[in-house]
Amino acid sequence: MATMVPLGPLPRACWTLLISLFLVCCLLLAPGAQGQAFRLRVEPQNPVVPAGGSLLVNCSTDCPQPELISLETSLFKEEAGEGLGWKAYRLSSVTSDSEIFCSGICNGSQMSDSSDITVYQFPERVELAPLPPNPVGKNLTLRCRVAGHPRAQLSVLLLGAGVLSQQLAVGGVTTTVLASRNDHGANFSCRWELDLRSQGLGLFQNSSVPRQLRTFVLPVTPPRLLVPRFLEVGTSQAVTCTLDGLFPASEAQVHLALGGQMLNATVESNGDKLTARATATASAELEGAQEIVCNVTLGGESQETRENLTIYSFWGPVMNLSQPTVRQGTIVNVTCAAGARVQVTLDGVPAAAPGQPALLQLNASERDDRRSFFCSAALEVDGVVLHKNRSVQLRVLYGPKIDPARCPQHLMWKEKTTQILQCQAQGNPDPQLQCFHEGSMAQVPIGIPFRVRLNYSGTYNCRAASSQGTHTVTVVMKVQERNPVTITIVIAVLTILGFVAAIPASIYVFGVHKRRDIYHVNQGNAEFPLTSKTAEEPLGEPPS
Ligand SMILES: *[C@@H]1O[C@H](CO)[C@@H](O)[C@H](O)[C@H]1NC(C)=O
Ligand SMILES: *[C@@H]1O[C@H](CO)[C@@H](O)[C@H](O)[C@H]1NC(C)=O
Ligand SMILES: *[C@@H]1O[C@H](CO)[C@@H](O)[C@H](O)[C@H]1NC(C)=O
Ligand SMILES: *[C@@H]1O[C@H](CO)[C@@H](O)[C@H](O)[C@H]1NC(C)=O
Ligand SMILES: *[C@@H]1O[C@H](CO)[C@@H](O)[C@H](O)[C@H]1NC(C)=O
Ligand SMILES: *[C@@H]1O[C@H](CO)[C@@H](O)[C@H](O)[C@H]1NC(C)=O
Ligand SMILES: *[C@@H]1O[C@H](CO)[C@@H](O)[C@H](O)[C@H]1NC(C)=O
Ligand SMILES: *[C@@H]1O[C@H](CO)[C@@H](O)[C@H](O)[C@H]1NC(C)=O
Ligand SMILES: *[C@@H]1O[C@H](CO)[C@@H](O)[C@H](O)[C@H]1NC(C)=O
Ligand SMILES: *[C@@H]1O[C@H](CO)[C@@H](O)[C@H](O)[C@H]1NC(C)=O
Ligand SMILES: *[C@@H]1O[C@H](CO)[C@@H](O)[C@H](O)[C@H]1NC(C)=O
Ligand SMILES: *[C@@H]1O[C@H](CO)[C@@H](O)[C@H](O)[C@H]1NC(C)=O
Repeated sequence: MATMVPLGPLPRACWTLLISLFLVCCLLLAPGAQGQAFRLRVEPQNPVVPAGGSLLVNCSTDCPQPELISLETSLFKEEAGEGLGWKAYRLSSVTSDSEIFCSGICNGSQMSDSSDITVYQFPERVELAPLPPNPVGKNLTLRCRVAGHPRAQLSVLLLGAGVLSQQLAVGGVTTTVLASRNDHGANFSCRWELDLRSQGLGLFQNSSVPRQLRTFVLPVTPPRLLVPRFLEVGTSQAVTCTLDGLFPASEAQVHLALGGQMLNATVESNGDKLTARATATASAELEGAQEIVCNVTLGGESQETRENLTIYSFWGPVMNLSQPTVRQGTIVNVTCAAGARVQVTLDGVPAAAPGQPALLQLNASERDDRRSFFCSAALEVDGVVLHKNRSVQLRVLYGPKIDPARCPQHLMWKEKTTQILQCQAQGNPDPQLQCFHEGSMAQVPIGIPFRVRLNYSGTYNCRAASSQGTHTVTVVMKVQERNPVTITIVIAVLTILGFVAAIPASIYVFGVHKRRDIYHVNQGNAEFPLTSKTAEEPLGEPPS
């Protein structure tokens, strides 16, 4: 790579011309022109040397006895040997173009020759200015800097997918290109070229390190941020931030933050659409009005959306019974409390002020057993009333009690029918109910079908018992014989009368009318139908 630009070519040429003219005059004026038969040569002829380099110059002649061979130059020189018909010099620190002259005398005649030294120097550096991310549709400026002190005009080429620009320049060149999506990831570089082929040295070139361009599209619309309006301390909710029309969406950076704290977002891109999802967790120190920020950054530009979120703490309601289980007649306190600013309402009665507990006092009665007390807590957050409800159940110990309406005290049953003794007792805890025959102390099952025997007649004591006491009612059971003697006789008489009446009638209508049985009607069964035909005899031992 070599460039040599003759420095100040015009003045130097003039000077050379003057010296040449002067020498020609001298030669012409010199006595005897025989010396002209011998020439003095400077070697090398018109060399091209790198700047700062050194050069060996040989002044030689065929003249058999040359005299006073010398080199004229403005450059620093030192003798580097001599021999028959030649003298060599070393020129060092050649930094600028110059012309050198050799002169000598041969047989009394002056000889001379000259040579042009051209100095070349390559740029020290060639560099493409950094390419910041460029929006699609905007002009991109490519700047190439060629540093150093090139001595000749270099050809500077800006290269992308092909040569974008070629200029003869010293220092650098710039060009603009319209950035497109296709330019994303494209490599650009810059190259200088120095053609010294005419000087026999070749074509020199060097290229900058390539730079990769990133083009992008960031829409002017802000991202869409979906956040809850309220968030209770200790709870979490999903937060979503989306932005469409991004290019390249996969390279966008999403920054989601709640009250200055970064949220750990999962970012997905699909085509030109970007979706970031995170979970916002409300901690106690963030209580109050907060902001959620979603910031999408691409190509050094960003778009952001902010949404307000109120973080509140809402504990309770906590309900309390002075005792969960009480005997009837005991005073019970029902309380309901919740956090500050929370208005509680206990069984429809609001507390005196928000933040205060609600109290309900009652004298527990049996009707209060399993009674539920309902407490509703309301907190106003940012103009919206939020509710939390709770209830608690009271147990009251009472009884036992046998309800006469549910336990018939007079029973009239027929012998050999199946019956159920219905009787119920109330109480908490559930009482145990048993009915015993007053005389025999035999027990009658309650609520279970059994076959009635004649000797079941009598008075029974039905007794309900629990830890809360006992309650007894008396049940009188009367059992009737199935076919008392009088009824049997009446039936027998009616049967005979029936036969007597039937014979003439049969003769009269024989073969025309069919006789009907009328005396198989079971009156007992019609009046007291069995409740269960499969009933077993329930009593192990019949009452005596
Ligand atoms: C100078 O040139 C002469 C004649 O061509 C040659 O003999 C001599 O060796 C050269 N000297 C150097 C130092 O090259
Ligand atoms: C030198 O010059 C003289 C006369 O000018 C001539 O006679 C002589 O032959 C020359 N010598 C050579 C070697 O040319
Ligand atoms: C080519 O250019 C690069 C970048 O400026 C530079 O580092 C390197 O030394 C150059 N190479 C040559 C041979 O000049
Ligand atoms: C880009 O540059 C060209 C020429 O340099 C100019 O004609 C064009 O209007 C520019 N386009 C934009 C979008 O700046
Ligand atoms: C640009 O250069 C980089 C690194 O040298 C290379 O990985 C990439 O494929 C090049 N891009 C193109 C479009 O050639
Ligand atoms: C962020 O979320 C990812 C996946 O949901 C999980 O693997 C990672 O540990 C989380 N990082 C932090 C700092 O919470
Ligand atoms: C978006 O986030 C980036 C990095 O966190 C920040 O540098 C930039 O200023 C933010 N943009 C806006 C508009 O707040
Ligand atoms: C968020 O709250 C601030 C102050 O309370 C208000 O100025 C701003 O408009 C609100 N922003 C939104 C998006 O509601
Ligand atoms: C609930 O009542 C019990 C017993 O009366 C008491 O020890 C407890 O502190 C109460 N709890 C609350 C939250 O009032
Ligand atoms: C609770 O009510 C019962 C019956 O109504 C009554 O006998 C008792 O005195 C009351 N207890 C209190 C503490 O008022
Ligand atoms: C019920 O509350 C009253 C008044 O608040 C209190 O005097 C009484 O001791 C409480 N009773 C019980 C059983 O906690
Ligand atoms: C709680 O109770 C209030 C008042 O009765 C009612 O408006 C609200 O819907 C209830 N909320 C829930 C979550 O049950």
